[in-house]
Amino acid sequence: MAPSVSSKPVALILLAAGQGSRMNSDIPKVLHQIGSAPLAVHALRAASTLAPEKTVVVTGHEADLVEATLSKHYDDLVFARQTEQQGTAHAVDQARAALKGFEGDALVLYGDTPFVSGETLQHMADARETAEVVVLGFHAKRPGRYGRLITKAGSLEKIVEAKDATAAQLAVNLCNSGVIMCRSELVFELISEVENNNASDEFYLTDIVGLARERGLPAVAVTCDEAETLGINTRQELAAAEATFQARMRTEAMENGVTMADPDSTYFAFDTVLGRDAMIGPNVVFGPDVTVESGAEIKAFCHLEGCHVAQGAAVGPFARLRPGTEMEEGAKVGNFVEIKNATLAEGAKVNHLSYVGDAHVGADANIGAGTITCNYDGAFKHRTTIGAGAFIGSNTLLIAPVDVGAEAMTGSGTVVTEDVPDGDLALSRVRQTNKAGIARKLMQILRAKKMKKDA
Ligand code: UD1
Ligand code: MG
Repeated sequence: MAPSVSSKPVALILLAAGQGSRMNSDIPKVLHQIGSAPLAVHALRAASTLAPEKTVVVTGHEADLVEATLSKHYDDLVFARQTEQQGTAHAVDQARAALKGFEGDALVLYGDTPFVSGETLQHMADARETAEVVVLGFHAKRPGRYGRLITKAGSLEKIVEAKDATAAQLAVNLCNSGVIMCRSELVFELISEVENNNASDEFYLTDIVGLARERGLPAVAVTCDEAETLGINTRQELAAAEATFQARMRTEAMENGVTMADPDSTYFAFDTVLGRDAMIGPNVVFGPDVTVESGAEIKAFCHLEGCHVAQGAAVGPFARLRPGTEMEEGAKVGNFVEIKNATLAEGAKVNHLSYVGDAHVGADANIGAGTITCNYDGAFKHRTTIGAGAFIGSNTLLIAPVDVGAEAMTGSGTVVTEDVPDGDLALSRVRQTNKAGIARKLMQILRAKKMKKDA
C-alpha cells in the first residue's frame, strides 16, 4: 500500500517493554518470531503504511537485546527506556523527550500485536480528520479482560478497564485493541493528568480518552476485525499466530499468480517475494530475504534464505540456498546441492551433490556431481571463481582461493590448488595402471583365508 497522503506527519510509539511472563521464556516476548521476524517487526511493518517520520520504541525487559535486534531490521529507531513498568501511560510517557517539539500525530502500537493492518491504521489516520483522539476497537467474541469502549451516539466517551468496570460496562463487547492515535503534544499533555488510582495501581493510557472528553475534545473508535488485534501472550497463541500468518501468505501468493502444488506445506517468511507464475513444489521453506522472480521454479523439499532466483531459473528438488546466493536467468541447482554467498551466472548448472560457497560461477558453466569449493581453511574464507563455459568434472575439489578460467575443464576427481588458465584442462589424478588378472588371484587368496578361519 502507498504511504499515506495525509498531510500530518506521524510518529510511532511502539510499546515493547514487557517481559511476557506467560511465554515462559528467556527471550523477551516481542522478539519471539512469526514468519522469521520478531513480533515487534510485524508491528513496525504495519505502521510503515503511515510512513512515520520518527519511531520511538519503549524498551524495558532485556532492553539491550530488544534494541540490538530491532536495529538490525530498522536503522532509524529511537529507543526510550522504561525501567519500571507502571502502566501503558507511563510507558508512552517515556517517549516524551524523544518527541519533544514533534508537530504531528502520535500512533501508539504494541510490540506484541503483529497483525494490525496498514489499511486499518490508514482508517485511523482518516478518522483523525474529525476527532482529536482515535482508538482502535473491535467486537470481541469473549471480551474478558479487555478494556471496554464506552460510546454515546457515535462518540467515544471513555475506556474502562475490565478490572474497574461495572457489570453494565462489562456487558459491552466493543473492546480496546490498545492502538491509539492523537496529536503528539496532546497525548503528552493528557498523560500528565493520568493518575493511578485504579484496581491495578497503574497509569492507564486508556484514561486519556475520558480526559480529552472532559475538555470537550471529540474522540471516536475505529473498528477492525478481532483477528487483527490478536496479541501474543503464550506459546499456543504464538503457534496459532504463525499458522494464521502462513495461511495469509499462501493466499496472497496465489492471488498474485504463484502456483503452489501443496500450499499448506509451503512456509513463508515475513518478506518473501514470489513473482507471477513462479512455481513452488511441496515442502518448500522460505527463510528471510528471498526473492523468486516470475517463472522461476522451486521444486519439492527446498530451503531458501537470503537469495535471489531470477526468471527461468530452477532449484531442487532437495536443494539449499543460503544467504548471498544469486541465481541469474536460467541457472539451475539440482538435488542435494548447497549454495552459499555465490553467484551462478546465466545458464550455469550445479545439478547434483555439490557445495558451492564464496564463489562466482560464470555463464553456462557446468559443475559436475560432487564438486566442492573448499572455501574455509579453519580461520578464513576464500573465494573461487569459475569462468564462463567452464566444465568442472565430477568430484572436483577447488581449494580456494582459486580461479578456473573461461572454457577451462577439470578432470573428474581433480584437486585444484592452482589457477587454471582459460581453455586449459586441469588434471591432478594419479595415472591409472591395470595389473593383469590380479583381482581374481587376490580374491581367491582372501576367500581361502576366510574358509580356514571359519572351519
Ligand atoms: C491493555 C489496555 C486494554 C486493552 C488491552 C489490549 C491499558 C490500561 N489497557 O491492557 O484496554 O484492551 O491492552 O490488549 O492500556 N507495556 C509496557 N509498559 C508498561 C505496561 C505495558 O511496555 O508499563 C506494554 C506491554 O508490554 C504490552 C502493552 O504495553 O505490549 C500492553 O500492556 P498490557 O499489560 O498487556 O495491557 P493489558 O492489561 O492487556
Ligand atoms: Mg495485554
